[in-house]
Amino acid sequence: MLLHPNLEETHTMEQIRAMITGIQGYVPEYRLTNQELETLVDTNDEWILSRTGIKERRILKGENQGTSVMGAEAVKGLLQKTGTNPLDIDLIICATVTPDMPFPATANIISDLVGSKNSFSFDLGAACSGFLFALQMGAQFIQTGTHKKVVVVGADKMSSIVDYQDRTTCILFGDGAGAVLLEPTQEEFGIMDAILKSDGAGAPYLHMKAGGSRKPASPETIAAREHFAYQEGSTVFKFAVTNMADVSAEVMERNGLKGDDIAWLVPHQANKRIIDATANRMGVGPDKVMMNIERYGNTTAATIPLCLWEYENQLKKGDNLILAAFGGGFTWGSIYLKWAYDPK
Ligand code: UT7
Repeated sequence: MLLHPNLEETHTMEQIRAMITGIQGYVPEYRLTNQELETLVDTNDEWILSRTGIKERRILKGENQGTSVMGAEAVKGLLQKTGTNPLDIDLIICATVTPDMPFPATANIISDLVGSKNSFSFDLGAACSGFLFALQMGAQFIQTGTHKKVVVVGADKMSSIVDYQDRTTCILFGDGAGAVLLEPTQEEFGIMDAILKSDGAGAPYLHMKAGGSRKPASPETIAAREHFAYQEGSTVFKFAVTNMADVSAEVMERNGLKGDDIAWLVPHQANKRIIDATANRMGVGPDKVMMNIERYGNTTAATIPLCLWEYENQLKKGDNLILAAFGGGFTWGSIYLKWAYDPK
């Protein structure tokens, strides 16, 4: 949520907003195609494409290659293209469900890899809504005036928690990372409003059974394949369609926006059918919907920044963007932002 309406009135004169001043993505080289998945599980290209819209995903291969490797690549590229000195970064937040290890935070490891010696850093877990939650949290540090340069990373190595014997999940997910730089502005650009939600009653439908404090790793949990993502797909599908569209409609309505006012819808890339249904309910045409699910699948916290990165050259200063996501938790949300710069 943005400021309470009453607070907003008293702060109007000097309100600081957080704007995205740069975006960078990173995907690993290896392409896991539908054809290769056909050799692993009982599935076929036609089913995967028609039910999900996915043709291939990227996979991070190699020993000791965690999520931080991809996150750091994205942040290094971001710093380079925005001409930012790593020593000037105040904060790094990394949204992920696949941290390198339970602790320390992957954001700390990224911070070390990019040389941001003066920042503090931490991880945020909100599954597929992680980037939106982290973006709004990063924005708060800017809006209060306490921090000037905040890096928000969405990164996941889903291949580390996907069961390549389970055809209902292994076809969906891929690896990737994206990062944005947030800086303050007193102009009418940047993050304008956000509605973020969560409901722990959704946990049974999308979770990882073992490896946490409730059920630590043991030979039994490994034998039962409980260290992989478990999903009841059709239940999650129904909640995703309804909640993503409802929350996006609410954010549009309370900012006086109609479908025609939206330059781009940036939806979490979980399933092309969910994206199409959400756009439809918002009255946004398919030519205004960012989509790269065909090439990357569902990269969890990375889908939205990867979309922004790939469409960056088509974004113009002042464009109204609606970012929307739904994921494990359940978590969901929508952010309205006014893009702050023209293509460079
Ligand atoms: O990002 C986090 C949030 N996650 C999501 O938003 C994902 C939401 N869920 C989905 O995207 C979809 O539910 C799936 C893509 C996971 C599944 O699609 P569906 O249309 O809901 O299929 P279903 O689960 O209802 O299964 C339909 C049939 C079943 O066979 P029967 O029982 O009708 O004989 C499945 O066994 O399709 C079968 N099936 C497959 N067939 C070929 C399931 N997976 C596959 C597969 N290849 N990979």
